[in-house]
Amino acid sequence: MSPIFRAERIAEIDSTNEALKHRAIAGAEEGLVLRADVQTAGRGRRGRHWVSEAGNLYMSVLLRPAKPPAMAATLGFVVAIALGRLLRALVTVPVQHKWPNDVLVDGRKISGILLESGGIVGGKVDWLVLGIGVNLHHHPEGGLYPTTDLVAAGGPSLTPDQAMDLLLGEFGPLYEVWLRSGFGALRADWLAHCSGLGENVVARLEREEIVGRFEDIDPDGTLVLALADGSRRCLAAGDIFMPARS
Ligand code: BTN
Repeated sequence: MSPIFRAERIAEIDSTNEALKHRAIAGAEEGLVLRADVQTAGRGRRGRHWVSEAGNLYMSVLLRPAKPPAMAATLGFVVAIALGRLLRALVTVPVQHKWPNDVLVDGRKISGILLESGGIVGGKVDWLVLGIGVNLHHHPEGGLYPTTDLVAAGGPSLTPDQAMDLLLGEFGPLYEVWLRSGFGALRADWLAHCSGLGENVVARLEREEIVGRFEDIDPDGTLVLALADGSRRCLAAGDIFMPARS
């Protein structure tokens, strides 16, 4: 584990993100990590529930990078790169990034990343909580995407603590690069392992669905789609689906 991280382990909690958010507001230092065996109200992106039964990794990391919110949001890509590197060392099947912050193993979602930030002072976030869930031993079925877990994908049987330490070990040096040089310095790494680049994708937003060719991501993590009418559309958030693979 990188020296800036100090982990607290909890048997059961509603949500490690929720608990860490309160600790952040109460003044906890950067680097505090909460890991729970079970979450009773695990949160996913866009208000979804994150199934959190014992065996998998559920953790949240408190950071205070003092950057504007849009830049702080790119940390989700940095966690995905760290997790991608870790998983590539553990399995022989393909490991890819999927916009915005998912990691796919053999085309199936193995993890989720939920960023929450707040306390904006002088245009910079006071705290940022990186919530990370990784399916180690089991995975829920019937969600938006096909899913898998590390053991099902042919990887080793890790405890949540082992997975947390390995992941923080990958993330620590990347966080330092990001602090010094921003996501621009890591974007090529994310794109090198990206799923769906150059393909037609369907982006589902709150109120619309857009079909376009996945052209690029900007240095701020925005997805750039080329539409059939020749225009471009940039998306800051949403869910994307690859029709060619479903
Ligand atoms: C997603 O929807 O893909 C993001 C899921 C994030 C789940 C993790 S588990 C640890 C942390 N605590 C939460 O309540 N959510 C995140």
